[in-house]
Amino acid sequence: MSSKVKVLITEEEVDAKIGRIARELSKEYAGKTVHMICVLKGGVFFMVELAKRMSVDVTMDFMDVSSYGAGTESSGTVKVVKDLDEPIEGKDILIVEDIVDSGRTLKALTNLLGHRNPASLKVVTLLDKPDRRVVDVEVAYSCFNIPDEFVVGYGLDYDQKYRNLPYIGVLENNKEER
Ligand code: IMP
Ligand code: MG
Repeated sequence: MSSKVKVLITEEEVDAKIGRIARELSKEYAGKTVHMICVLKGGVFFMVELAKRMSVDVTMDFMDVSSYGAGTESSGTVKVVKDLDEPIEGKDILIVEDIVDSGRTLKALTNLLGHRNPASLKVVTLLDKPDRRVVDVEVAYSCFNIPDEFVVGYGLDYDQKYRNLPYIGVLENNKEER
């Protein structure tokens, strides 16, 4: 595939914003331990950078849910591919997402985890596409609102590629896929 990637948000912009969100989170969770739940695989880069900048105690777990195949449209059904290793009862949970698009994935995930009786349950996302929302879901922290374009980089993939780009970009010849 010879797709071109146009830079939408530079590495410097992303890093600066993550720093600011980390400081806000550190204030909100002062004196507590934040149990960060990374939604695989896209959330990995964001969670690592966020956790590195937080000044409160952090523990981590990973969950993999899938609503996407190789294409770019949410199927509306969410399958738990990998569940958490640890129980979350009584913990302050922070779900770390790469992007909230239709909101279906996050809605299913917050419902599922909410039933496991955490002390609190909040969501932080790197990107939000508010124009695409079809399901109402509460996102406490969002680094960037972006327009309705398919983006890659900083953990986000197209067909499992481009996750390792250190910036966020738009895949230019992807229009026919949507
Ligand atoms: P939702 O259920 O429609 O909100 O889909 C959320 C998931 O779809 C995200 O966690 C991503 O894995 C994927 N996704 C949505 N939009 C994009 C995009 O622009 N680029 C890459 N992945 C995306
Ligand atoms: Mg995701």
